Amino acid sequence: MKLIVAVAKNWAIGYNGGLLFDLPDDMEFFKNTTLNKVVVMGRKTLLSFPEGKPLKDRTNIVLTTDRDFEQEGCIVCNSLNELFEELKKYNDEDIFIIGGGKIYNDLYPYCSEALITKVDAVVNADTFLHNFDEDKGWYLSYASEVHENNGMKFIFNTYKNNSIMQYK
Ligand SMILES: NC(=O)c1ccc[n+]([C@@H]2O[C@H](COP(=O)([O-])OP(=O)(O)OC[C@H]3O[C@@H](n4cnc5c(N)ncnc54)[C@H](OP(=O)(O)O)[C@@H]3O)[C@@H](O)[C@H]2O)c1
Repeated sequence: MKLIVAVAKNWAIGYNGGLLFDLPDDMEFFKNTTLNKVVVMGRKTLLSFPEGKPLKDRTNIVLTTDRDFEQEGCIVCNSLNELFEELKKYNDEDIFIIGGGKIYNDLYPYCSEALITKVDAVVNADTFLHNFDEDKGWYLSYASEVHENNGMKFIFNTYKNNSIMQYK
């Protein structure tokens, strides 16, 4: 599995239940990368989408401890063990962890790659990602040229995991 995320220089990813940036090129990258794949998210990230609806043309898996939680078009898992059972049905290459903070930080050890859009800004936030630059188990394998949207500069990075934890 892989994770996909947009972060500020201080590894900030969210504030008050919402995203920090409005970057059309990054949204397009996210859509192109995850289309027709499996996306795994926490309940709070699902509820941050318009009307709390799942992403179109993707298999949406949502984690919540609420056993009564239902949302049309979503597969609900109540624990990491339940999630790992569900994920056995899919090709590992097709699984993308799409947030938020809790889900990224629980699942990054199982990811082979982290697709991290790094934005050249330091932002006030209440949700942060693990710092992959300070983790010796991970290395930067790709950095794109600089992109710019709405006056904000950013690059697309790929980090790779030296010691992937197995879930299957
Ligand atoms: N920058 C980005 O690329 C990006 C991407 C996605 C999200 N975000 C941001 O991240 C923030 C949301 O992150 P968050 O950490 O607050 O919430 P989250 O990770 O989206 O969801 C957390 C919820 O997931 C459920 N959950 C987590 N671990 C679980 C487990 N092991 N078993 C069962 N359920 C589990 C729990 O739901 P219950 O409370 O229902 O039990 C928990 O409250 C928002 O600001 C959002 O905009 C940023």
